Amino acid sequence: MFEDRIRCAALRGKVMSADEAALLIQDGMRVGASGFTRAGDAKAVPLALAERARKSSTPLRITLMTGASLGHDVDRTLTEAGVLARRLPFQVDTTLRQAINRGDVMFVDQHLSETVEMLRANQLGKLDLAIIEATAITGTGGIVPTSSVGNSASFAILADKVIVEINLAQPVAFEGLHDIWIPGRRPDREPLPIVRPQDRVGTTSIEIPPEKIAAIVITGKPDSASTVLPADDDMARIAGHLIEFIQHEVAHGRMPSPLPPLQAGIGTIANAVLAGFVQSPFEALTMYSEVLQDSTFDLIDAGKMVFASGASITLSAARQKQVFGNLDRYRNKLVLRPQEVSNHPEVIRRLGLIALNTALEFDIYGNVNSTHIGGTHMMNGIGGSGDFARNASCAIFATKSVAKDGRISSVVPMVPHVDHNEHDVDVVVTEQGLADLRGLAPRERAVQIIEKCAHPLYRDLLRDYYRDALKAGGQTPHRLQQAFAFHMRLSETGSMLPPASTQV
Ligand code: COA
Repeated sequence: MFEDRIRCAALRGKVMSADEAALLIQDGMRVGASGFTRAGDAKAVPLALAERARKSSTPLRITLMTGASLGHDVDRTLTEAGVLARRLPFQVDTTLRQAINRGDVMFVDQHLSETVEMLRANQLGKLDLAIIEATAITGTGGIVPTSSVGNSASFAILADKVIVEINLAQPVAFEGLHDIWIPGRRPDREPLPIVRPQDRVGTTSIEIPPEKIAAIVITGKPDSASTVLPADDDMARIAGHLIEFIQHEVAHGRMPSPLPPLQAGIGTIANAVLAGFVQSPFEALTMYSEVLQDSTFDLIDAGKMVFASGASITLSAARQKQVFGNLDRYRNKLVLRPQEVSNHPEVIRRLGLIALNTALEFDIYGNVNSTHIGGTHMMNGIGGSGDFARNASCAIFATKSVAKDGRISSVVPMVPHVDHNEHDVDVVVTEQGLADLRGLAPRERAVQIIEKCAHPLYRDLLRDYYRDALKAGGQTPHRLQQAFAFHMRLSETGSMLPPASTQV
């Protein structure tokens, strides 16, 4: 039974139902589950756990760590069943987001490269159990991941016990696509030997002692499809500004041709902007990124991209069918790595990445808020954006200049929460234009950002604020009493615009 999927004969007796496997999880445990941006997530055991918790008269609350966000409403179902005491390092679920913002779930918003580093260094406590989706188990007990590697390898290595979900809906052709390399312990750690996106330095499965595998559950659901929307005109304009900027950089010898590897963040905007490169003159593109979205495959299919390295593949339903059904066609153009390798500062700095991530808002000096609505309420989390921005050769942040039909300006006097500070941010871009901040002092940055990136509805308000702030002086002039006036007005009136102004 399942001989091709469970090739280690000694493990075949460990097959059981999701309900039985979920009994291995006890109140208070720390559990690491596979899953990165809806790809390769454990799909059966977490839902069986939620069901058990719902029927239980005693508390069943755990710390859940993953690679990044999950699909199949797993976070919603666990939240509704009251299972999540603590969650890290990233999420995108509306119900969980509300529970986090009520203070019901303690959410630790982490750089995605750091979670397993901290676990390995015993800074997050002991990991009791790992639940890992796999396409197969090798003859020696190696776990072959599916559409993501994320934190799965280190979770399996560090946990006391491992539950494997063999997903029959995931193609066996995933085998061979992964490159599992785990950093050694400090202080004697060796350099990470990746010098090109296509370098393979590890194994194709997660090697753990087979006796650690406590249960195997057979599942059969495909990954949840990505939720990104099609590009709109503003996103096409952002892509246009960015491509023009990069062409200019190449023409002046400040960027090589072919370009350094690209990184693109999650979400509709990053996907749309990357897809815009299909129309660009750039050839022989590569990616050294985290999530590979539809746009990566648009570029590969258009003959523009020659190789993409990531930690997961998250696709729309149609693209998923096409790519996962034809993995052999993409095999020599792809590799999936642990997220501590895809997001590793050493490699990002060595390769000189162009990093493109999305901001909720940025301020007139280039500080970026990617996570906290209104400065207080969690949206998704910082994800890998900080791993990339700090270490890239060019860190770019994109956003539309306004949100919510113009009631919110994405360019503000001062961001009420900072994820990426002015020292890490090289370029900001909206559909209005692009501000190149490199080598500029804060007073120079403010002029560039207001004039090039702000929406015309808000430009005068920002000019007035900056003019007034200059009277107070300083390296980074501010009027602290007025710095959050946009946000105060939004919470009081529902718009950042003064009442008399017209909206778009
Ligand atoms: N204030 C309040 N809401 C805002 C806002 C602001 N300044 N700017 C945007 N929004 C809202 C939008 O209106 C939209 O709301 P809706 O879902 O109700 O329509 C929502 O935020 C998403 O914005 P959208 O413009 O569709 O962009 P996106 O899908 O590209 O997502 C982020 C943008 C910032 C939320 C997303 O990229 C993110 O979570 N980034 C942080 C993590 C990260 O960068 N990971 C990548 C690392 S590799």
